[in-house]
Amino acid sequence: MGFWSNLFGGSEKKGPQRGSHHNRLAWIGWDMHNHILPGIDDGSQSIDQSMELIRGLQELGIHRSVSTPHVMAGVHDNTPESIAGAHSCLMTALKSQGIDFRLDFSAEYMIDDQLDHWIENDNLCLLAEKYVLIEMSYLSESKGLFSIIKSIQDKGYQPILAHPERYNYYHNNFKIFEDIKNAGCMLQLNLLSISKYYGENVKTAALTLIRSGMYDFVGTDMHHARHLEALKQVVVKYDVQDLLKDNPIRNISLYSDKVRNIA
Ligand SMILES: [Fe+2]
Repeated sequence: MGFWSNLFGGSEKKGPQRGSHHNRLAWIGWDMHNHILPGIDDGSQSIDQSMELIRGLQELGIHRSVSTPHVMAGVHDNTPESIAGAHSCLMTALKSQGIDFRLDFSAEYMIDDQLDHWIENDNLCLLAEKYVLIEMSYLSESKGLFSIIKSIQDKGYQPILAHPERYNYYHNNFKIFEDIKNAGCMLQLNLLSISKYYGENVKTAALTLIRSGMYDFVGTDMHHARHLEALKQVVVKYDVQDLLKDNPIRNISLYSDKVRNIA
């Protein structure tokens, strides 16, 4: 260590660094959308892969995660029990390796016929005990979107629509996002959407929603190492916190917010 490093205690190693992805996402607190639980959807396929993704999140400054495996009838037939099982396996691995990482679990629900059933029977894997993360197919709109939003609210929970910018069939219908917000559904941005990772049109839609201040949450939606590497590049290239400064991003207070509609 040189003279100047000694004088300043090597402080240049702490905090965000120009050109480095380290700690660039510390400000979000919780990653509330990812697929890092092992072996139960199209995300991580093993404990080792999960650990690699968690190390990546830690480098980005994220030390808290609500992992959200897909629940999709006939494709990813997860239940609260199957998700809890994968979570338990990963928690055991974290503990055995002495890794300090807060890991909670929920789900990402595809809007399909089965979801009506889960809501009706109050068998949802809630996010932070009050939110329900929902998604639609990328190919076609779910006609039941607005009735599902209402059903979730009627149970006293708060719906969050995952990555609205990725639904190509809405790209020429921006008013639909206002309708969804006016129906009381929150919106979650995928961080990779602000780059061209999912394509130019998705980026344009994300930036339009950002400019309109319509996002409530951000998530990595990380499935695998390619997502992690892309995310590292995105956070170096863009000042994400500044980009989102006019959006009421509430990840940091995920476990302290009160839900509307609950008495
Ligand atoms: Fe996802």
